[in-house]
Amino acid sequence: NVFDFGMIGLGVMGRNLLLNMADHGFSVIGFDKDGAKNAALESAATPGTTVKGVSELAQMIELLQRPRKVMMLVPAGQPVDDVIASLLPLLEKGDVIIDGGNSHYTDTLRRVKYLREKEIHFMGIGVSGGEQGARTGPSIMPGGDQAAYEHVRPMLEAIAAKVGGTPCVDYLGKEGAGHYVKMVHNGIEYAIMQLISESYAILKHAGLTNQQLHEVFKTWNEGKLQSFLVEITADIFLQMDDQSDAHLVDVISDKAGSKGTGKWTSQDSMELPVAVSVIDTAVAMRTLSGYKDERVQAAEIYAKDGYGSSTPTDELVQEVQDALYFATIISYAQGLAMLFQASKDLAMDIPLPKVVSVWRGGCIIRSSLLEIFTNAYTQTSELSNILLNQEVAEVVKSVEENTRSLIAFAAKAEIPVAGLMSSLAYFDAYKSKRMATNLIQAQRDYFGAHTYQRIDIPGTFHTEWGQQ
Ligand code: 6PG
Repeated sequence: NVFDFGMIGLGVMGRNLLLNMADHGFSVIGFDKDGAKNAALESAATPGTTVKGVSELAQMIELLQRPRKVMMLVPAGQPVDDVIASLLPLLEKGDVIIDGGNSHYTDTLRRVKYLREKEIHFMGIGVSGGEQGARTGPSIMPGGDQAAYEHVRPMLEAIAAKVGGTPCVDYLGKEGAGHYVKMVHNGIEYAIMQLISESYAILKHAGLTNQQLHEVFKTWNEGKLQSFLVEITADIFLQMDDQSDAHLVDVISDKAGSKGTGKWTSQDSMELPVAVSVIDTAVAMRTLSGYKDERVQAAEIYAKDGYGSSTPTDELVQEVQDALYFATIISYAQGLAMLFQASKDLAMDIPLPKVVSVWRGGCIIRSSLLEIFTNAYTQTSELSNILLNQEVAEVVKSVEENTRSLIAFAAKAEIPVAGLMSSLAYFDAYKSKRMATNLIQAQRDYFGAHTYQRIDIPGTFHTEWGQQ
């Protein structure tokens, strides 16, 4: 019984997380049916660390210290249930199973309950940061049984990214909270990626070359937009194709893929309900990107002369920067508002101040904005929407005007900026004392006797409309 931690599934993420743990002094063992992956794990280990790969699950379980701590990194869905089924005859009461993949939180909830009856701890943990993050410091979002968390906490704190010495991992709530937080993280990820692609579309329309785009994004990453996604975007513009002499970005098909976590965020937001319109838009735009043939046809039908900008390039770049900043804040605001609501409605007790702290390093949506949000939650830990924080409000107001003029320009120039538009529309509605939805209530009552409330007299009313 020598190993501290076991991993099932030695794909890129599983292998790199184990190697990261080993580098921090833990003895680790991995299981994969594919012998080549076991060999790859052992040969990638840092000399002097204790790393073993086996192709028999029972062998791995036998070699683990009790209570056993076993993580799986396998595709979401049935494979997770299959692994649980194969583990059950091998484990004992008190052992801890961790699902580190992108599982849907309702599956996690079901598994937590099922395994609780068998006195086995099950934790759903979100891991973000891709291959590099897993190897050198991911952001880790654990949820589930707090007692089980204490068993794995030393390892997770050791391997997590660090910001100012603080590990980017913390206990983020009960039951399926870890996977819920990761799902919303991915929703925000989709939104920000969409917004960056719209910013790129505008700058490309204005004639910037890939070299210039690189410089713009690089400069942005040194300022208020500092973030992982802006940083990698700057790099992308420099990458040359190895099959032709083009820049690689220019020969990549515009059909965007997705594995579904953004869609889950939108679907679940509607269940709550919470408005996450920028995330919804980002999902819809990836879907629309797949209609390549129809888009080509429609482009023919609606073709006309383009509208150019008279704004000098420097000013336009500034406007795009501000609009991207504005819409990024709205994206986080929507995601965090969703977590706020879900935490209560689904009884997960998600600590939002800890969520933003965990997201400050290692994950795909890490950005300097999270420092501002951390301050906001330090002032009020129970903040239903970060747009209600004074400091956030000042930041938003400082870029509001440029956001409006950029969106107006994009609308005239026929550049699709659905994410930016959606962020502004949300903002304008959110800060409306009175929306125009009184008319919707009147219509509902008109055709369906759905009743309405009044602003002056309490109670529920119905009118026989149109009979005057
Ligand atoms: C992360 C990423 C990661 C993965 C997404 C991509 O936090 O490290 O979110 O989990 O890259 O699943 O999702 P799509 O394939 O849906 O874009």
